[in-house]
Amino acid sequence: MNLSICVPDASGARWVEAFATLRPDLEAHAWKPGETAVHADYACVWAPPRDFFEGHAPFKAVFNLGAGVDSILKLEGLPTLLKAAPLIRLNDAGMASQMAEYVTSFLARHVRGFGDYATQQSVALWKKQPPVDKSEWPVGVMGLGSIGAAVAQAVFANGYPVVGWSRTPKTLDGMQVFAGREALDEFLAASRVLVLVLPATRETNSVIDSAALQRLRPGGLVINIGRGALIDDPALIHALDGGHLGHAVLDVFREEPLPTEHPFWRHPKVTVTPHISGFTLIEPSVRQILEKIDALERGDTVEGVVDLERGY
Ligand code: NDP
Ligand code: OXD
Repeated sequence: MNLSICVPDASGARWVEAFATLRPDLEAHAWKPGETAVHADYACVWAPPRDFFEGHAPFKAVFNLGAGVDSILKLEGLPTLLKAAPLIRLNDAGMASQMAEYVTSFLARHVRGFGDYATQQSVALWKKQPPVDKSEWPVGVMGLGSIGAAVAQAVFANGYPVVGWSRTPKTLDGMQVFAGREALDEFLAASRVLVLVLPATRETNSVIDSAALQRLRPGGLVINIGRGALIDDPALIHALDGGHLGHAVLDVFREEPLPTEHPFWRHPKVTVTPHISGFTLIEPSVRQILEKIDALERGDTVEGVVDLERGY
């Protein structure tokens, strides 16, 4: 059995090595643009170009080397380019715990005022901020999939009240979960901190606009680890400048890398990180893909098959 890997950076050799280590009888090859394609049973891709699909015979399945599939779904000519192969994304594969840690760290930094203590230290000021009542900081998590559910559970375990929002109804112990657009306003009104872990789809584009931000409880925090397109950027800046929103922590952006002239870089109430909340980890990802290949070869169903129409 063989596998063709298409990644936009220099990590191709590391993926090939991981497959060779974990499954020596499987032949993995890192494809390069312009290269004549060899036949491959399966593909592993991140943001692939059209040529990758045009040059290969149909795959049995295409594995996306990440959780979000927006970069592949925006390829012109999809789904025809997939030639009927299912598109399968990563489920967690080591990203959820990284992202839960990112959220709980920035949440604590904001609520406990750790940033203020750093400022105090710079002027040798010994001053205790008042203790925090976490019940005044309800956290709303948008998107309760493989990653969002883990984020919600981690925040809840840290003692914050948590509410969740997803497309379809769900049950999460100790948390109230709202489902669908009709429940969005109620969900937002119950949140002071908003954590975005949604995929970028037609439905979720600019879901956080000016009206949504105004519905949040005042003085809050927005943390976006989903995709930049979830937020209307000017509306976010307006809510920060007007004082309704206290701070925004942004890991993802409409354009990446974030252009140097973008106001987010210099805004005093914005923290920017360069899309690092959840790295794709090669070894756990390769293990998961191999398990899914084995299941497909047995004729079993696998988790993470993307609904191309729905967009995630
Ligand atoms: P999942 O597909 O497992 O979960 C997506 C969640 O979003 C589901 O709960 C789904 O609802 C919900 N959702 C989707 N559309 C809507 C909608 N229209 N209205 C309400 N809820 C909706 O994805 P993951 O948890 O694995 O990943 C989430 C996203 O995180 C990825 O798509 C990616 O964009 C981003 N990501 C970012 C990373 C980073 O480093 N910054 C790393 C990894 C992922 P339902 O459960 O009802 O289907
Ligand atoms: C992903 C990402 O979607 O890295 O996996 O953003």
